[in-house]
Amino acid sequence: MDKMLKYKQEYVVTLKDINLRYSGEKGEVNALQNINLDIEEGEFICALGPSGCGKSTLLKIIAGLLKPSQGEAKMDGEPIDGPDWHRGVVFQSPTLYPWLNVQDNVAFGLKMRKFPKNEIEELTNKYLELVGLKGSEKHKPYELSGGMKQRASLARVLANKPRMILMDEPFGALDALTRQNMQTLIRKIWTKTENTVFLITHDVDEALALATRIIVMSSRPGKILKEFNMDFTYHISDGSKENPRYTPKYMGIREEILKIINCQNEELRFS
Ligand SMILES: Nc1ncnc2c1ncn2[C@@H]1O[C@H](COP(=O)(O)OP(=O)(O)O)[C@@H](O)[C@H]1O
Ligand SMILES: [Mg+2]
Repeated sequence: MDKMLKYKQEYVVTLKDINLRYSGEKGEVNALQNINLDIEEGEFICALGPSGCGKSTLLKIIAGLLKPSQGEAKMDGEPIDGPDWHRGVVFQSPTLYPWLNVQDNVAFGLKMRKFPKNEIEELTNKYLELVGLKGSEKHKPYELSGGMKQRASLARVLANKPRMILMDEPFGALDALTRQNMQTLIRKIWTKTENTVFLITHDVDEALALATRIIVMSSRPGKILKEFNMDFTYHISDGSKENPRYTPKYMGIREEILKIINCQNEELRFS
């Protein structure tokens, strides 16, 4: 039955002709223009683009936190109407309740959804284990390092078994080593849960190391300039002898993406 559903529904999320305008005190800001994006089940999409180009805005539309000014955002063919647990969001700053310990933070959503107690315990344990936080479940957020807080945020999202995980520069505030570990963790989780992921990053190598598809956005108003399909993430995870990072294919795509982004920055500087 599940399989049948999978074949019937081509895309998890479809964005069609999306425009988004913010209207504030200083007038209108055109943040996104003419965005078309179909996200397939199991894809790992990374969004890259200059600062202020509308990446977070795009993520918030998929999350249901913002409504497009024009166009349609759908999940499984139904209009996205507000946030819900089918699309779990991890932000750059972990959003944990400071008065709850790690375990209760992870269990919170399930309690709200009135899951039976034993199921809550089972799921909480399972995902704490998966993100490597067993042994820290009684700690309060202030006792955790940045990386551990992000692991807890991730476990909280995963415990809901979302269809899709949305991450907005989730490792942006972490040191290089922790960042690397988190990338490995995310890849492992994505492989294991077969989730669909949409991740924003400003690091080209992070995108190349994780994504099955990279979308590169233009400076404001954000448009999708180019998309790249790739499979480096599989080669990194299976421990291939040849490090995909040094292959001509990797270098080629990397160069092309950097060229597009630098071009954008150039335009910003002179506008
Ligand atoms: N609530 C808001 N009101 C008005 N302008 C906003 C608001 N949020 C974001 N913007 C503007 O919209 C543009 C896109 O923002 P954002 O999506 O955060 O970009 P990014 O994540 O790519 O840096 C920016 O110019 C930003 O200043
Ligand atoms: Mg942003």
